[in-house]
Amino acid sequence: MRWPPRVKVVEVGPRDGLQNEASALLPEVKVELVDRLSAAGLPVVEAGSFVSAKWVPQMADTARVMAGIARRPGVSYPVLVPNQQGLEAAVAAGAMEVSVFAAASESFSRRNINCSIAESLERFAAVAEAARHQGLKVRGYVSCVLGCPYEGAVRPQAVAEVAARLAALGCYEISLGDTIGIGTPAAAAAMIDAAAAHLPVDMLAVHFHDTYGQALANVLAALDRGVAVVDSSVGGLGGCPYAKGASGNLATEDLLYMLNGLGVVTGVDLNAVVATGDWICAKLDRPNGSRVGRALIGPARTR
Ligand code: HMG
Ligand code: MG
Repeated sequence: MRWPPRVKVVEVGPRDGLQNEASALLPEVKVELVDRLSAAGLPVVEAGSFVSAKWVPQMADTARVMAGIARRPGVSYPVLVPNQQGLEAAVAAGAMEVSVFAAASESFSRRNINCSIAESLERFAAVAEAARHQGLKVRGYVSCVLGCPYEGAVRPQAVAEVAARLAALGCYEISLGDTIGIGTPAAAAAMIDAAAAHLPVDMLAVHFHDTYGQALANVLAALDRGVAVVDSSVGGLGGCPYAKGASGNLATEDLLYMLNGLGVVTGVDLNAVVATGDWICAKLDRPNGSRVGRALIGPARTR
């Protein structure tokens, strides 16, 4: 088993986490969340999304969040944009990086963004071109890389094709998302191998959900393939509003605990992330989904 000496952790909690939480948070609380995460040393903190508020009401205040955060030098604060309208709102809010999000399954694409995969890629080509023209970086997501809530199995080749298309339209990094957390390590490795046949492995990121407790094992399989960018969410917040049964994302605390144990450098302070997970879960009135967070904040902890 191999692993890279350094891993970039992409914190997606303020977007992928909060978009699926029932409790609405005030924008000030979201601002504090983003600021705590960047202060903990996370190099990328996904701050929200500019999508239809009818579809995802939890993200309707992203402009206010972007206006309130203390932008740290060297930290990136990407936001999701599904179309030109979203890009315009992101630019107006001062975003320097946007993410476009395609899927490897037709049914999920339709449910999530109301168009086919081909239509979405056409739309994203224009969005990416306009974004890059204005000096923004563009990240790409592929959802449902290890299975779809509507169609079941997804072919690794289908993932590789969408990933390659996103790279061709100018995305600097492609995050491969196991949106419903259905994958296991051998399937994750096969999917990464298929993508890496089309793209340099250093363009790939992985994004696992922990539905069946497989997320860390899948990360390890990805690290073994040379992937060195991993998405995660503080407190294990999240799921996906268009993927029934999708439980939380891999918790950032659990990811850091494993990476620290492997001697992998991340530059992130685990204790600060644990404290942030504890704090945001109390605000949301939900249990902390991180195993590390639970261990450190459980009843045995003394204050
Ligand atoms: P549409 O329903 O096809 O309709 O939306 P439309 O484009 O004709 O627009 C309908 C209404 O939405 C109009 O408003 C537009 O102005 C408005 P109305 O006239 O009815 O009042 N609208 C917008 N409002 C704000 N921002 C925008 C925007 N665009 C249109 N950018 C659309 C298509 C894509 C907009 C819609 O389907 C949508 O917003 N979907 C968002 C889905 C989403 O955010 N999903 C969650 C993120 S993906 C995910 O979680 C997976 C990932 O994390 C990976 C993983 O976990 O594996 C990435
Ligand atoms: Mg996710």
